[in-house]
Amino acid sequence: MATQPQVPSAFASRIIGTGSHFPQKILTNGELAKTVDTTDEWIQERTGIHSRHISNSSNPAEWNSGLATEAARKALEMAGKKPEDIDAIFLATCTPDTLIPSTACWVQKNLGAKKAWALDLNAACSGFIFGLSFADQMIRTGFIRNALVIGSDVLSAFTNWNDRGSCILFGDGAGAVVVEQTSPHSPHRIYTSHLKSDGALWELFHIPAGGSRVEVTPEVFERKDHKMQMKGREIFKEAVRTMTEYAELALSANRLTTADISWVIAHQANARIIESVAKRLDLPLEKMLMNIERRGNNSAATIPTVLDENVRNQKIQPGQFILLDAFGAGLTTGSLLLRW
Ligand code: UT7
Repeated sequence: MATQPQVPSAFASRIIGTGSHFPQKILTNGELAKTVDTTDEWIQERTGIHSRHISNSSNPAEWNSGLATEAARKALEMAGKKPEDIDAIFLATCTPDTLIPSTACWVQKNLGAKKAWALDLNAACSGFIFGLSFADQMIRTGFIRNALVIGSDVLSAFTNWNDRGSCILFGDGAGAVVVEQTSPHSPHRIYTSHLKSDGALWELFHIPAGGSRVEVTPEVFERKDHKMQMKGREIFKEAVRTMTEYAELALSANRLTTADISWVIAHQANARIIESVAKRLDLPLEKMLMNIERRGNNSAATIPTVLDENVRNQKIQPGQFILLDAFGAGLTTGSLLLRW
């Protein structure tokens, strides 16, 4: 259990713009069923997914950095900010364009955000909450006054498309927010964040090769050890347990109950995971915002894209408490409570 102190500070931060972007190609369950031994019915029943977006690697606009750049442009536009106004770019991803430079640096170049320092962070599917928490902490101390926080992933590049136990879940996309300094007395701000990692559970979801430890040789390539390997059933249980625990932590740290929460945006890994968390928290399912049916699991991008869609369709209204809640490879977990 996390013990992060929630320290009073001179400043606070709030989200003032959101954006999201997806590749053009939509891959339906029906199309997937032509290449692996599965069915549309099985996928929908066990995951809630109907289709997902898949990047075209020969189109730079659909590289990780291309999707992230477009999501960031939309968030900047909503915020009424120019790229040159931005102090820092935090880009959460586990599927960077290149190992070096960081995808955040590609995005900084694309945007022309000349003043911003930029870095990638990898907490897999929890990455957006980690990035938003870091930006919030730096804004609270006055180290920066604003930031772009992006969650962007192209999981299709690391998916074993012969493994029906995992390939049905993943898709590509990017979501971004602009966060800016505000008064700690403003009700419209980020309240708390709680983060956790448990590296002992690495084996539940990992990519064995492609880092500095194991080179991608022809043998490795043949074994597909450069692709994601997942123990789905075990992750499912761990995800429900830790997301429930971290949602409860966010509520108790703010002396709130589930009745105070208007919306929960949980990582979109599997609709059944989200339903199980809602049941354990005794939250009506209508409060769990989802886009998994049309988007699949796009890792660090799921939470900011759901946020953006529901800001734009005006489900999210000023004054509402919103709880973000995620788990991911590592294993990592995070929750963040904000008031819109
Ligand atoms: O961002 C985090 C990333 N990962 C996750 O969040 C994964 C979390 N886990 C899950 O979402 C689910 O565990 C899966 C969707 C991956 C699998 O669903 P499940 O209900 O846990 O299925 P299972 O692994 O227990 O398999 C049940 C059966 C097996 O057949 P038998 O042994 O009972 O005959 C599988 O072989 O379903 C079979 N199966 C499939 N059948 C049709 C597994 N995948 C498929 C498939 N189509 N795609």
